[in-house]
Amino acid sequence: MRVLVLHSHPVEESYGAALHKQTVESLKDAGHEVDDCDLYVEKFDPVLSRHDRLIYHDYPHNMELVKPYVDRLKKAEGIVLVTPVWNFGFPAILKGYFDRVWLPGVSFELVNGKVESRLRHIRKLGAVLTYGATPFRAFVAGNPPKKIVKRVLRAQINPLKPVTFLAHYDMNNCTPETRAQFMAKVKRTMERF
Ligand SMILES: Cc1cc2nc3c(=O)[nH]c(=O)nc-3n(C[C@H](O)[C@H](O)[C@H](O)COP(=O)(O)O)c2cc1C
Repeated sequence: MRVLVLHSHPVEESYGAALHKQTVESLKDAGHEVDDCDLYVEKFDPVLSRHDRLIYHDYPHNMELVKPYVDRLKKAEGIVLVTPVWNFGFPAILKGYFDRVWLPGVSFELVNGKVESRLRHIRKLGAVLTYGATPFRAFVAGNPPKKIVKRVLRAQINPLKPVTFLAHYDMNNCTPETRAQFMAKVKRTMERF
C-alpha cells in the first residue's frame, strides 16, 4: 500500500521525530511504499489566505497553490499522522495542511447540498500522538485530537474503515521505560499496518 506519513514536530532530536522515523521504517519493513511528508522540513505554509478563502470552493482552480500536496494525497492508499498534541489540537502546521489541502474537489464534493467523500481510495488511517496530559486530563478536556482522528478524519475518508490510534499520554512524566515501551508498540503496530 502507498502510505502518506504526515509529520509535524519542529525538533529533529525530539522523541516525536524518533517516533516519526520508527513509523516510516516499520511501514517500509512491512513492504509499504512510504511518501514521507515532514511538514516542517518541507516548510509547508499552513496559512489559508484571503485569496485562498475566496477561491476555496472553486475547483480545480483552488488546488493550484498546493498541487504537489493534492497529488500526493490522491496517490495515497493509507495515511498515518505522527504528531504532538498542542492545545488539545494539532500543531498549526498540520491543522493548516488539512485547511489548505483537503479542499472541495479533493477530499469531498458537495452534491445537491450533501457532502460526498473523494477519499475512498484511502483504505486505512493511523495516528501516533504524544500528549503532555494524562489520559484522565485528556478525557476531561474531551480529547479533541482523538475525536478528530477517530471520528472527523475517519468520516471524511470512510467511516467503515479501521483506524489505528496510538498515544503516549503523560509525556510530562515519561521515563526512558515508557518511551521505549511506546516506541516498541509503534514498531509492532506499523509493521502490521
Ligand atoms: C505549544 C504546546 C502546547 C501544548 N499543549 C498541550 C495540550 O493541550 N495537551 C497536552 O496533552 N499536551 C500539550 N503539550 C505537551 C505536548 O503534547 C508534549 O510536550 C509532546 O507531546 C511531547 O513532545 P515534545 O515535548 O518532545 O515536544 C503542549 C506542548 C506545546 C509545546
